[in-house]
Amino acid sequence: MRNAIGKIDFLGSFQHELPEHGLPEVAFAGRSNVGKSSLLNSLMKRKNLARTSSTPGRTQAINLFQLGGTIVFADLPGYGYARVPDAVRRSWGPMIEAYLGERETLALVVLLVDSRRDVRAEEGELRFNLTQARIPTVVVATKVDKLKRSQRARQLATIRRDLHLPTGEPIPFSTQTNEGRTALWDAIEGKVRDFLAAPDPVPLPLPDDSDDMEPSP
Ligand code: GTP
Ligand code: MG
Repeated sequence: MRNAIGKIDFLGSFQHELPEHGLPEVAFAGRSNVGKSSLLNSLMKRKNLARTSSTPGRTQAINLFQLGGTIVFADLPGYGYARVPDAVRRSWGPMIEAYLGERETLALVVLLVDSRRDVRAEEGELRFNLTQARIPTVVVATKVDKLKRSQRARQLATIRRDLHLPTGEPIPFSTQTNEGRTALWDAIEGKVRDFLAAPDPVPLPLPDDSDDMEPSP
């Protein structure tokens, strides 16, 4: 996948009615300003394709990027302390919930947390809800270049403990040093392969309308 990125198409910015493309989708979620768009640019090796900003709340809709014919990345709007009008903010929760609950091609959610901060309740909730919904997740700790050497191991261990993560997570990531790029691509490729190998969900039984079919006496 990463070797076959080739052409990258920006499919557009959506609040609902996302296009069907038939490819596995990987969504990037996390608080506003955590570094989602920056991480996407780093993965795609593009400078500012996913627009980044030091102003929280830059990404206000779901932006889709198609990488060659293999995979689609979804840059989700950040939740939390964005300085945006209330009306805009109120529409985000339902938009993201609808996306996570209904997107059939969703193969993986990459959940980003800031490596310098304590895990917030809403991050724990999101991880818990995704696990309950059996949506695969991988957690990334962003901006590790800003951690002092002495803090690093402790911060990563705290995040692992607070989010109940398996060994190997969170993946430490930095767009400054490119740390974590390979590990995250490995995780993405593995989960997408699992998704493609999984059998289609069992179809729900059709409503029982046999009463209507009863032959008349
Ligand atoms: P929203 O779109 O508002 O949800 O934000 P976002 O999560 O997409 O964050 P974005 O990528 O725009 O980054 C926010 C700020 O953090 C920018 O000023 C980035 O330059 C900075 N940043 C992102 N990743 C890193 C990193 O690995 N290291 C450092 N030092 N800064 C980073
Ligand atoms: Mg963004």
